[in-house]
Amino acid sequence: MKRNLQRIATALAAVALAFGASPGEQTARGEISGSEHDFSSQGWAQGEICLPCHTPHNANQAVTQAPLWNHEVTTASFTVYSSPTLQAQVAQPGASSKLCLSCHDGTVAIDSFGGTTGTTMISAGARVGTDLSNDHPVSFTYDASLATTDGQLINPAADGDTDPNTVGMAPPYVPLFAGRLECASCHDPHNGTNLAGLLRVSNAGSGLCLKCHDL
Ligand code: HEC
Ligand code: HEC
Ligand code: HEC
Ligand code: HEC
Repeated sequence: MKRNLQRIATALAAVALAFGASPGEQTARGEISGSEHDFSSQGWAQGEICLPCHTPHNANQAVTQAPLWNHEVTTASFTVYSSPTLQAQVAQPGASSKLCLSCHDGTVAIDSFGGTTGTTMISAGARVGTDLSNDHPVSFTYDASLATTDGQLINPAADGDTDPNTVGMAPPYVPLFAGRLECASCHDPHNGTNLAGLLRVSNAGSGLCLKCHDL
């Protein structure tokens, strides 16, 4: 499906070029290239885009469900979100959230990958830190039972589609990871949507929040 869309996008770009549009207009397609996660122009990235995060061989298996991970993984312990009205059972970050925090908690250098230890830390503006108590909760199971207990959440198992690993009453849906809400439920590390803040869905009119919150 995605590949077909990409083919169509490529074909359209070719048509645009044929009619004299500038090549710059092609960048409207969402992609990692040129995004905040494209480090290929940094000396330490060896000119590659995927390598700081992924490797085809000898991947780091310190985190379960990690997609062929190449980056050093954080060993920090995190203060997680809590509140008197929260029903979710929030655990220490696991799965993909731990991968994000391996650069964004500010304890591991962004250029620590492929077995080498780097020195470049994330900038203060993008540092989430190890205290997650002031951030939207992540790393918890979001299922029909949580939706029922809370009473004001979309039920991932009975929403716009039949897949319990996505949420929303209508496309575009946001993903859960093995039934859990993670950083990548709201963010697309590959900038596939071309939205500011690497978001999955535009938050204009709080549209991202309303994918899951039934208010
Ligand atoms: C800044 C780190 C980062 C970079 C750079 C990056 N990825 Fe990822 N990638 C992730 C994270 C984190 C996940 C897990 C979360 C998810 O699936 O969205 C992931 C998941 C994936 C997956 C599995 C899930 C999916 O979305 O299909 C594939 C395949 C993938 N990446 C390919 C690539 C390729 C190819 C590149 C280079 C063009 C790349 N990634 C660059 C961080 C990165
Ligand atoms: C419930 C949705 C949601 C979750 C979960 C989430 N974020 Fe965000 N995040 C946002 C939104 C919305 C913004 C603001 C984006 C914008 O407007 O530029 C944001 C902004 C950011 C920024 C930009 C700097 C800043 O603080 O504004 C970073 C970095 C970031 N998030 C990282 C993370 C990491 C790492 C995690 C997991 C620990 C995470 N996010 C989980 C929704 C989320
Ligand atoms: C290899 C290290 C690395 C990993 C892994 C990584 N990031 Fe980033 N991320 C960065 C760097 C570096 C920046 C640019 C920060 C800056 O502006 O100084 C960034 C920028 C961002 C931004 C801010 C975009 C903006 O508008 O300023 C968001 C949001 C973000 N990352 C979320 C995530 C999420 C979510 C994950 C996991 C799914 C993730 N990152 C994984 C290194 C990483
Ligand atoms: C991927 C689904 C999803 C998205 C997107 C999302 N949330 Fe949530 N949010 C949840 C779930 C699930 C909980 C846990 C609710 C509970 O257990 O009470 C939660 C918790 C919260 C809480 C804490 C509630 C409490 O009782 O302490 C607040 C506040 C909140 N979200 C606001 C937002 C805002 C604002 C946005 C948009 C920027 C947003 N959420 C986006 C799913 C989501």
